[in-house]
Amino acid sequence: MLAFDGEQGVAIPERALFIGAQPHPALKTWPEIVGWQPLNPLAASWERVGFKRVENFSDGKWPLVLVLPGKSRDETLAWFAMARDRLEPGGKLAAAMPNTAGAGRFEKELCKATGNITSLQKHKCRAFHATDDGAWNEEVFNEWRALGEARKISNTHFTVQAGIFSSDHIDPGSQLLADYLPAHLHGDVADLGAGWGFLSDLILKRCPNIDQLDLFEADARALDCARLNLAAHLKKIGFHWHDVTTGLPGVYDAIVMNPPFHTGQATDVDLGRAFLKVASASLKRGGKLLLVANRQLPYEAALEASGLAWRKITEDKIYKILSAEKRT
Ligand SMILES: C[S@@+](CC[C@H](N)C(=O)[O-])C[C@H]1O[C@@H](n2cnc3c(N)ncnc32)[C@H](O)[C@@H]1O
Repeated sequence: MLAFDGEQGVAIPERALFIGAQPHPALKTWPEIVGWQPLNPLAASWERVGFKRVENFSDGKWPLVLVLPGKSRDETLAWFAMARDRLEPGGKLAAAMPNTAGAGRFEKELCKATGNITSLQKHKCRAFHATDDGAWNEEVFNEWRALGEARKISNTHFTVQAGIFSSDHIDPGSQLLADYLPAHLHGDVADLGAGWGFLSDLILKRCPNIDQLDLFEADARALDCARLNLAAHLKKIGFHWHDVTTGLPGVYDAIVMNPPFHTGQATDVDLGRAFLKVASASLKRGGKLLLVANRQLPYEAALEASGLAWRKITEDKIYKILSAEKRT
């Protein structure tokens, strides 16, 4: 981003906000840059190298707002609108993304709203920026703002938001797990990678003998939706913005999960394996693990390696449900 601005011969403002922040050595020399990052592992890596992070924007405005793309179109456009809202009059909105993330398409979209765009293409990526000249099309930004607002999944009471997992439907794998979730789960229970709370909602409705349910989720926006979705339950619920791969703070009688197996766009089986390992380490003796996974994912071996006794409860064309127990 610095190189981009330097090559264009544009002065770089001292203060900048970075939406979707990720650390990079080139940013180290920036006098005052703050990041916003809803994903816990990325937020942690941003802070680990000494950068400041904002959680809520309140009224802050910056002369430069940088944007990296989100996972979905709606999310990225909503982030453009968020950037617009945080820009000082006359400020610059800059974005950078790989061509494979739709850089050309997003550049055109931004130009629709701003009317001016300066673009650089390099390393199979595009960096582009627009300057607020007082003539930006606020109607377009309004449309994008609306894309980022909380909404309901149709025919349900579940609140979701663009960018979070399964933001317009109930995940069919989670639904299969729901169909097989036993009512006898009891005591302290954890939902790992809890998303907007579909499995937690079901656990709380179906299992009367639960004392405490802890949701662990990396995406702060999903957790905010889960808070709304579970508001009607009277049980003790803990909401943890947490990277599960770093371990859990407690131990549990039962753990339920639909573990992630993507990092960004890429398949990452190790992420799912890390979830299994942490789950296994966090079960009390006699504790139960129940999970759903795509059939081709090699989680049985990971359960064996963790010393859990496991069995397959069911499978369909796409998913399998595995149940495991910590016997020792
Ligand atoms: C397959 S989704 C399941 C979501 C939810 N349980 C459901 O059934 O709809 C996996 C979830 O794990 C979350 N996740 C990904 N990496 C994580 C990590 N390192 N720690 C905690 N949660 C993570 C994702 O944000 C996503 O919400």
